[in-house]
Amino acid sequence: MPPPVVAIVLAAGKGTRMVSDLPKVLHPIAGVPMIGHVLRAIGKTEVRRTIVVLGHGREAVEAELKSAKGVQCVTQEPQLGTGHAVLAAGAALADHDGDVLVVNGDVPLVRGQTLQMLLKSHRQNNAVCTLLSMKMDDPGGYGRIVRGSEGNVRRIVEDANATAEEKELTEVNAGVYCFRKADLFDALGRMTANSVSGEFYLTEAIGFLIAAPGKDVRFVRAPSAQELQGVNDLDDLAGAEREMQRRVVAALVKRGVRIPSPAHCYIESGVEIGPGTVIHPFTVIRRGVRAGRTCEIGPFAHLRCGTVLEDGAQVGNFVETKEARIGAGAKAKHLSYLGDVVVGASANIGAGTVVANYDGQRKSKTEIGDGAFIGSGTVLVAPVKIGRNARTGAGAVVTRGHDVPDGATVVGVPARPLPAAGADAVVPGEDAGRPARNGRARREAVVEPARVQEPGS
Ligand code: UD1
Ligand code: CA
Repeated sequence: MPPPVVAIVLAAGKGTRMVSDLPKVLHPIAGVPMIGHVLRAIGKTEVRRTIVVLGHGREAVEAELKSAKGVQCVTQEPQLGTGHAVLAAGAALADHDGDVLVVNGDVPLVRGQTLQMLLKSHRQNNAVCTLLSMKMDDPGGYGRIVRGSEGNVRRIVEDANATAEEKELTEVNAGVYCFRKADLFDALGRMTANSVSGEFYLTEAIGFLIAAPGKDVRFVRAPSAQELQGVNDLDDLAGAEREMQRRVVAALVKRGVRIPSPAHCYIESGVEIGPGTVIHPFTVIRRGVRAGRTCEIGPFAHLRCGTVLEDGAQVGNFVETKEARIGAGAKAKHLSYLGDVVVGASANIGAGTVVANYDGQRKSKTEIGDGAFIGSGTVLVAPVKIGRNARTGAGAVVTRGHDVPDGATVVGVPARPLPAAGADAVVPGEDAGRPARNGRARREAVVEPARVQEPGS
């Protein structure tokens, strides 16, 4: 058994071309920071230990990685190039004697199977270095692979150092490599500062390995150039986002989720949605959201973190949910904010319902029982509980702590007088003017705060 492979992810660079204060590898793609995608791909290979080289924005990236399993951060200070970055991982690798997988932190679309294929090919050929190459229609910015007359690779020339003729070469270095560790560090020790940038390039070290007699350096063609597209500016980021969206949608559709217009939805990575569910256009679904079977989502819904839709739940136009569990068959079809709330099965949330979960200091929770009917325009001021099969009238403001018992009905807007005892309340805007069921004349009832009407009264 060869010793286990250790991965090194290069993530110390400033990412100047992003024109952004956020460290490059923290830019989100489908809701997950770029480096999270790279680590996830590595996590799908045999690799169990990864060293991430950090520098620019180190604290922020480290905070993001603190719960990542098998990940160790090391610091490259100052940041003097990709070869120098690999050297920064040297001390952490002192006890390692085997192969290392080196991955640029800015190739978020790389797939685990591609990395595993690289490792396998490297081992099978007993190579000292194996790198992924690809053909690019527009190779600008990439290190070009320069081949000799027999097709053998001579060296990698960086864009800034390339002659006009070399710039025409379309075969490029993808920035993903496997090395035998001892050979890699020998070669890194011979690097000199690049004449144009003053940086120490990993690709120069690879040149030394290529030139050394008897050292096998292999180039393996990446399955798709798109998968190894480096993200260097915001345009590349948008391209990576498009591809990641395509993958997220494809995975959902394969599981039986219907998405009639994928181009008009934004669905982050790491959502779980059951078969038979429909996602209508202009819907945003954030990372971690779960929905069961046969739910209906959108159009224009925004499901944020902590949202769980049980089977058959419906969340429609301009409804925003956050930390919300929406029970089986419950409906919130129009114009609502549902935050920090549990909605019972088959409850109906009327248009314009707002759960006021935040008082400016604290967030509080709201519970809405099974079968409850929340009238249009209700405001539920958390913390508050609405019982099973309870009702609120249109425009009711249920204030904090004024729980509504099971089966009860509450109505009213604050700051308007209570009706006389015994009078039937009319739900303003809902059935005003219609005769009451028991024949007594109704009066417009206004209460402050919403008052409880006992069941059957
Ligand atoms: C690099 C390769 C190029 C290849 C391309 C593929 C080198 C010299 N060039 O170019 O041949 O075609 O990737 O995408 O390697 N980094 C550090 N410390 C540093 C500098 C960079 O950790 O001092 C990290 C960056 O954060 C980034 C990665 O290394 O994640 C690559 O650096 P970048 O500057 O983007 O290299 P490219 O110019 O894209
Ligand atoms: Ca890059």
